Amino acid sequence: TPADAPRGCPAAPAPPPAPPLFTWEFAADPYPAYAWLREHAPVHKTALPSGVEAWLVTRYGDARQALADARLSKNPLHHAEGARGKSKTGIPGERSANLMTHLLNIDPPDHTRLRRLVSKAFTPRRVAAFAPRVQELTDGLIDGFAARGEVDLIHEFAFPLPIYAICDLLGVPREDQDDFRDWAGMMIRHGGGPRGGVARSVKKIRTYLAELIHRKRADLGDDLISGLIRASDHGEHLTEDEAAAMCFVLLFAGFETTVNLIGNSLHTLLRRPDQRELLQKSLAAGDTGLLTTGIEELLRYDGAVELATWRYATEPVEIGGRTIPAGDPVLVVLAAADRDPARFTGPDTLDLARRDNPHLGYGHGIHYCLGAPLARLEGQTALATLLTRLPDIRLAADPDDLRWRGGLIMRGLRTLPVAFTPEAAEGA
Ligand code: HEM
Repeated sequence: TPADAPRGCPAAPAPPPAPPLFTWEFAADPYPAYAWLREHAPVHKTALPSGVEAWLVTRYGDARQALADARLSKNPLHHAEGARGKSKTGIPGERSANLMTHLLNIDPPDHTRLRRLVSKAFTPRRVAAFAPRVQELTDGLIDGFAARGEVDLIHEFAFPLPIYAICDLLGVPREDQDDFRDWAGMMIRHGGGPRGGVARSVKKIRTYLAELIHRKRADLGDDLISGLIRASDHGEHLTEDEAAAMCFVLLFAGFETTVNLIGNSLHTLLRRPDQRELLQKSLAAGDTGLLTTGIEELLRYDGAVELATWRYATEPVEIGGRTIPAGDPVLVVLAAADRDPARFTGPDTLDLARRDNPHLGYGHGIHYCLGAPLARLEGQTALATLLTRLPDIRLAADPDDLRWRGGLIMRGLRTLPVAFTPEAAEGA
């Protein structure tokens, strides 16, 4: 088979033509194009829809190496094309110098200092203690549509759950959370579209966070923002600007990613009845083992973050036999690396019980996802509760009609209509 043919063998037949990237068809199923890139052009310079040129890295080994390479900077100032008046933060409409200085845009030693400080407040223990609240939020959202027999799972479930969860964790008062929901909705709906609304939303979030941090400082509680204010390392604290940028990156990095984790996972399971039944059986037996390995496999199979965020070569860097010149952007394609047959057995097969699964869905190296424990908690709770409460849940649309949001970095559905037998009202 072509996949087994020696890579670069001169006697190999001419490769099929390069598939188009970044079209609607590509968005619906990018995996064949990624397989082509891994095989024929594993480190590939291409023009993105924005016109900016970047290198795509698609093989697992190269991807892991690139994610851990200190010569690839996260600081957008290293981009040779320079600041052409465009936001290079990856955050639509985001221009503020202070919000820009967040974990995903900085290198050591600043990154080391800020990551150490936030890690003191955003601990696995804090996340574990949050589990009952995530369950309560999940059940509350399902209560909202369980009697109806149909729902768009993105709109009424995958979207609100993470935003309420992160707001609660941070300590945003409940009465303000619907504002956040609207602002966040604006950012994800129009991430690649009309800038005006997005910029306004970011501005509102910025103003709100600055005020909230200021208020918390005077009246510390046991929420994460208070934890961030309290955290100190060798006598050093976060400044107010740093705290605001930290809250912003937690909101931004923890929101759409989790929407997609929940949405993509349910979409995959609804289309793989055999795997979904296995999971439902094990949940019914009170066994969470398959849920734990399953959520990792779902992330590997059709992950929430398709491409890792931007990196820039600070000097010529060799990856997979190609030399990337200084100043060029590098995008590590996590979705391609996680289906590399050189690392995963049967990479295109969903196997919820897969054990040897060092996927890159949460990244790798010093920028490894800070929120992975929270994402796992939300993903596992969402899936287990939904599949248990609405056991015959099924897709209520032709799979070919489902549309994916068009952003470059994230991979997620716009809508996911489902039908199910309505849950009987309590006491009925
Ligand atoms: C970083 C994925 C949820 C906070 C990352 C990175 C990935 C990722 C791939 C590395 C990006 C890179 O190196 O370019 C995901 C996925 C999630 C998820 C798939 C859900 C399924 C969350 C949540 C939070 C969060 C819930 C917080 C509430 C962060 C932060 C970083 C990060 C702060 C930057 C860390 C650093 O630069 O040191 N995430 N994430 N993420 N994530 Fe997540």
